[in-house]
Amino acid sequence: MNRRRNALIGFCLLAIAAIEIRNLYDSFRGSRGTEKQKPDLEVLEEKDQSRVQPNVMLDVENQNQETKIEKASEPQKTKTVLFWNWNWTPDIGEPLDTVLERSKCPHHHLCKLTKDKRLVHNSDALIFHRSLGEKPPFSLRRPEQRWIWIEGEPPCFGAMPDTGEPYNWTMTYRLDSDLYGPYAQIFRREKPLKKDYMSIVKAKTGLVAWMVSNCPTPSRRMDYVRELQKYIDIDIYGSCGPGKVKCPKEPGKIMGYEEQCLRKLESYKFYLSFENSLAVDYVTEKFFKTVNIDVVAVVRSGANMTRLGFHKDWYINTADFSSPKELADYLKKLDANDALYVKYLEWKNYYYSAMSTTLCNLCERLLYHDDPPKTYTKDDIRQFFYTDACFKPNDIVRD
Ligand SMILES: *[C@@H]1O[C@H](CO)[C@@H](O)[C@H](O)[C@H]1NC(C)=O
Ligand SMILES: *[C@@H]1O[C@H](CO)[C@@H](O)[C@H](O)[C@H]1NC(C)=O
Repeated sequence: MNRRRNALIGFCLLAIAAIEIRNLYDSFRGSRGTEKQKPDLEVLEEKDQSRVQPNVMLDVENQNQETKIEKASEPQKTKTVLFWNWNWTPDIGEPLDTVLERSKCPHHHLCKLTKDKRLVHNSDALIFHRSLGEKPPFSLRRPEQRWIWIEGEPPCFGAMPDTGEPYNWTMTYRLDSDLYGPYAQIFRREKPLKKDYMSIVKAKTGLVAWMVSNCPTPSRRMDYVRELQKYIDIDIYGSCGPGKVKCPKEPGKIMGYEEQCLRKLESYKFYLSFENSLAVDYVTEKFFKTVNIDVVAVVRSGANMTRLGFHKDWYINTADFSSPKELADYLKKLDANDALYVKYLEWKNYYYSAMSTTLCNLCERLLYHDDPPKTYTKDDIRQFFYTDACFKPNDIVRD
């Protein structure tokens, strides 16, 4: 039940989470519409045309450059993307057909996102998510269509589900997907904020917060936190904490982005962004939701954060410490030294997080790229996503 729910949430977060971050950001700052997203894919595209996968997001060094997507030729017609089992809409508050426009996708007028299965024959790409039960309609397949296997949850919970087969492209949080679909992306602000983080720090009332609702997980984060708690105070919210406080559901908010919770979180210096699984490239809203608020994320994940494009001074990484105790010592050091601590906040004047450009990239690919046919059998998917993708925690008990 929980896993199914998680999978659904993961799936939707994949494309939509950051709209919520954006909402949040906007409602906090009252600045709707003053920022324009600059997807970094454009930069990368120009730099490295040979990449099979045009949608790696963060090349921060180059974020300042203004570049335009090269359009080889104007497309003949609009493209249709059918979300075959995109069932989870009630809580999102964002109709599918406005997602592209909201994310300022330059091709939004040429690309139609739909859930209308009557369009199956006229769809250029179809998106399938494995957890929703319904098998893809293989008999309706046209060879020129791109059938896309989407996954937002890590493969660390057990056996590979029946994927149905074959597919043409993958769309997941892994960098080596055909379409890179992270939970959100980080963009450079056109106009930097001018927040005075020194005074923000002084107003903080808490030290370390954690919000968590799944207690036993493959990453054994609970065990890590228990060890960490021996050396530093941690306020635990959510159903695994002592008080078992739940964040009140808010209509139009995805779990994890409830404003009350985020506000609460902002009163702390550090937030534990601990993933439920240590998996290749797997970084979720637990990190991204901290980007637009004034708290420093302490990340524990299986991802190489540098490889994903995140700067060292944007977060604290448990992987950089040999033990929870050493991490606790560092957090206490920052707690005692505001100048050191604010270095982890100041970047937020220049960056924000928002919806990933994944769907926009998909449209671009359909419109302007003449990709050769490609097929993933069940074995290919197993190899790609389910093999050697999860790490066992080795940072809890040490010899
Ligand atoms: C992480 O990725 C960076 C950049 O790709 C690389 O230089 C570094 O060696 C990687 N770190 C680990 C621990 O693999
Ligand atoms: C998609 O995969 C199917 C099944 O292998 C294949 O017949 C078809 O040519 C592929 N289409 C594209 C556009 O890759």
